[in-house]
Amino acid sequence: MYSEKVMDHFEHPRNVGEIENPSGVGTVGNPKCGDIMRIYFDIDENQVIRDVKFKTFGCGAAVATSSMATELVKGKTVQEAMEVTNKAVMEALDGLPPVKVHCSLLAEEAIHAALWDYAQKNGITIEGLEKPKDNIEEEEEEEDY
Ligand code: FES
Repeated sequence: MYSEKVMDHFEHPRNVGEIENPSGVGTVGNPKCGDIMRIYFDIDENQVIRDVKFKTFGCGAAVATSSMATELVKGKTVQEAMEVTNKAVMEALDGLPPVKVHCSLLAEEAIHAALWDYAQKNGITIEGLEKPKDNIEEEEEEEDY
């Protein structure tokens, strides 16, 4: 049912954790299942994503897509990170079962929410980036993954 890459990123997720004083942070929830994902960016003065970490309280597909999404955005500029869509993440994972496609949206939305936060803090515009619908404001830290 799952590709080897999905299983690999699920069992050995990359970039799990958090970044203190992040340049941008985004938290989103999946309305279909209630799962939550948070992404942290450390962005340098050239707008390059130097480091990225995530926490996901969600299903295996959400963990695998977060892991792959963080790998794909690392080292990119904030503008290039806009190209890391859920479709790109799914392709990089050799696909997801149809019922799990909505899980991959969480990673894309979390990236956008974190980029939006960065753009707001720095007064910059990222082409194609829209205000996230449901960026969950900072909440009490949860015991999540
Ligand atoms: Fe909720 Fe996958 S079932 S993100």
